[in-house]
Amino acid sequence: MGEGRASGSEEGARREAPWRCVVLLSGTGRTLENLLDRIDSGSLNIRIDQVISSRPGVRGLEIARDAGIPAHVVRGRQYPTLEAYTAAVYDRMADVQPDLVLMAGFLRRILIRPELDGRVLNIHPSLLPVTALYAAGRGMYGDRVHDAVLAHGDVESGATVHVVTDAYDEGPPFMTRTVPVLPGDTAADLAARVFEAECTLYPEAIEAYMAQHPELKRAR
Ligand code: GRF
Repeated sequence: MGEGRASGSEEGARREAPWRCVVLLSGTGRTLENLLDRIDSGSLNIRIDQVISSRPGVRGLEIARDAGIPAHVVRGRQYPTLEAYTAAVYDRMADVQPDLVLMAGFLRRILIRPELDGRVLNIHPSLLPVTALYAAGRGMYGDRVHDAVLAHGDVESGATVHVVTDAYDEGPPFMTRTVPVLPGDTAADLAARVFEAECTLYPEAIEAYMAQHPELKRAR
């Protein structure tokens, strides 16, 4: 930033260095794309130092590489156990030492070791914890979630940002955003409405989480 601009913007001058994040994904990377847009527009004070995908050849990897972010595949099926997969992901992240790990359409489970306790966030496309019994957990992603919400007859859905623990989608909810379920909605209709809500919810939740947990920012 030029000197004139810095002195002209007290807020900019006060702004702390961005938190360092790793993004975990498995698919299209729309969530990553949205986070990058928010970073660019100045509304999200993080930097994404690394992207790890559990699948090769996905669009999320292209988004990362186009943005100049080191992107790696740690493929789930190459590791026989949850512990082995967890170890491979942690090894991959070791040189980054992220302040936060952001799951963004990540379809694998990893164990949360003490060094990442409270540092891993996920966004799930239904309202947790209420939907935990029918629209969350292993295998519940994409349209399956929205089909389950519709089958349950819910009049509201939405998205939840939660802290990740060792169990799928069971970590404490941190922030939710509600959308209506409208008569005649298909899963695709609901998915689009929920994803729109996610695009504001996730960046806002990350900002709020950082503000509430300044102790998580590592000294560098
Ligand atoms: C969204 O449904 C989100 O809630 C879930 O993954 C989906 C987005 O995936 N965690 P992507 O960003 O399009 O890959």
